[in-house]
Amino acid sequence: MDETYALSAMALATLATLAVALPAARRRLELSIAKHPSLTGHARMARRVAALLPGYAYDADRFFNSDQAPAEAVSRRRAALQRLSTLFSQRHARSLALTRQAAAGLSDLQFTSAYRVPFQFSPYLRQHLQVASFVQQVDGVIVTDLDGNPFYDLTGSYGVNVFGHEFYKRVMAEGAERARGHGVLLGAYHPAVAFNVERLRAISGLDEVSFHMSGTEAVMQAVRLARYHTRKTHLVRFCGAYHGWWEDVQPGPGNPVKPRDTYTLKEMDADTLRVLRTRSDIACVLVNPLQGLHPNSAAPGDSTLVDSSRRAGFDRAAYTAWLQQLREVCTARGIVLIFDEVFLGFRLAQGGAQAYFGVAADMVTYGKTLGGGLPVGVVCGKRTLMKRYREDRPADICFARGTFNAHPQVMCAMQVFLEQLETPAVQAIYAGLDARWNARAAQFNQQLLAADVPVQVANIGSVWTVSYTQPARYNWMLQFYLRAHGLALSWVGTGRLVFSLDYSDGDFKEVAHRFVAACREMQADGWWWFDPRRTNRTIRRGILRELLAQRF
Ligand SMILES: Cc1ncc(COP(=O)(O)O)c(C=O)c1O
Repeated sequence: MDETYALSAMALATLATLAVALPAARRRLELSIAKHPSLTGHARMARRVAALLPGYAYDADRFFNSDQAPAEAVSRRRAALQRLSTLFSQRHARSLALTRQAAAGLSDLQFTSAYRVPFQFSPYLRQHLQVASFVQQVDGVIVTDLDGNPFYDLTGSYGVNVFGHEFYKRVMAEGAERARGHGVLLGAYHPAVAFNVERLRAISGLDEVSFHMSGTEAVMQAVRLARYHTRKTHLVRFCGAYHGWWEDVQPGPGNPVKPRDTYTLKEMDADTLRVLRTRSDIACVLVNPLQGLHPNSAAPGDSTLVDSSRRAGFDRAAYTAWLQQLREVCTARGIVLIFDEVFLGFRLAQGGAQAYFGVAADMVTYGKTLGGGLPVGVVCGKRTLMKRYREDRPADICFARGTFNAHPQVMCAMQVFLEQLETPAVQAIYAGLDARWNARAAQFNQQLLAADVPVQVANIGSVWTVSYTQPARYNWMLQFYLRAHGLALSWVGTGRLVFSLDYSDGDFKEVAHRFVAACREMQADGWWWFDPRRTNRTIRRGILRELLAQRF
């Protein structure tokens, strides 16, 4: 043991000596230091660990007492699951029947159903509590399932729904009308394209625009162009940030291809700035401003809610200062600063994250809501970065095409969307937006405190995340109680509630009321039974022991 220790001390000392003597070794060391210490910061390692993680499932006993709760709490939990199961199967009979039928041939549905909760609990839960995935009708903030049950929509349609369903119904209808004469003519443009280009140039403050079919494609294109023009290889993304599902921006678990040409670094950290200042292989830095809510953490899905360590909180001043520092270092080093506003664009401010934080990017990607309800991805960038060929090297091009890019129907819906942004009605929504949603979140937290339930929320505008204030293993059950109380969440559960901006005070009051009622019921059913000796760390240690027992 002592010998091993002496050897590693010697290796470190050697590395430090080398680092002083050799600039390349120093830069390598700085890069290692700029990686987040967690697995999220080590994509290669995370992939290896993910491959080793053994699958196992709790049986009926363990499902209810994985935290060694007293028999009395366990029996309340059992009765509660039985009650919810009966409620769901009776209340949502038709919606569930179609869900089961479709799931057999719909891989996406199988995946989302399996990953609603931590994997140990998932098989038993799926047997006893199924969630229907079909909806008959959408009106305002209410979605109605096939059995006629109304839910308040807190899904935000993955971020697309900024201004409310009725708004998008109008925009899509008007867009379809304007595009009617063009059928499916692709290649030559609908006049709406010229309008959109001008408006997007004005909104982004950038010179040129390109249209794509999804946010993933837009980010792919922005990064490709940054590499082409800088002639450098690497992109820097920040720990936990989502930028779509293509290889280079998802270098860890979830991607069968090994990470390459991507550095995943700590966000809001001086070590990262040092790396940007000293390395010469970095083409671009990708920022997803949504991470301001939970820097360095992945999207907070309930399938990873194994304890209560999930934390979030948005510090606008600190995040602004961070973006300013990034801007400075990128300018100084000729690194392309890309804001990925696919999620947040148009939600925080009309001018997007650039306007909200007062920091200008070299390229911006938009998507989601900008299509006025239809699928889209957009890149806006400086002229020098957007050009796809070189006059003096005709074969040296940066290829990017797409059959459906600038589809007339999408372009017309986008045109209507962009026109709507200028109307007094939408301007009135943007006025005082932050203050309104921060006040709502603060009031919500007061109500949760008053109800004495171990739940709080944090928000960046109308995007909210739920955290849990006392160590527990069953926090993920809350998504089912919320459903029982008529609140619809996306499959990631309580990690992300996305409100549309048309929520009136009355709607909001009703959501808060139902949310608190759901928490109270869950508490009464024993899922938050609390043992003062239990901490998040002891919970995680227990899970680690289970994992090791499975492997050996
Ligand atoms: C910041 C960000 N970038 C890119 C994407 C990918 O967009 P799409 O799902 O349209 O491919 C998303 C999707 O959630 C996103 O949030």
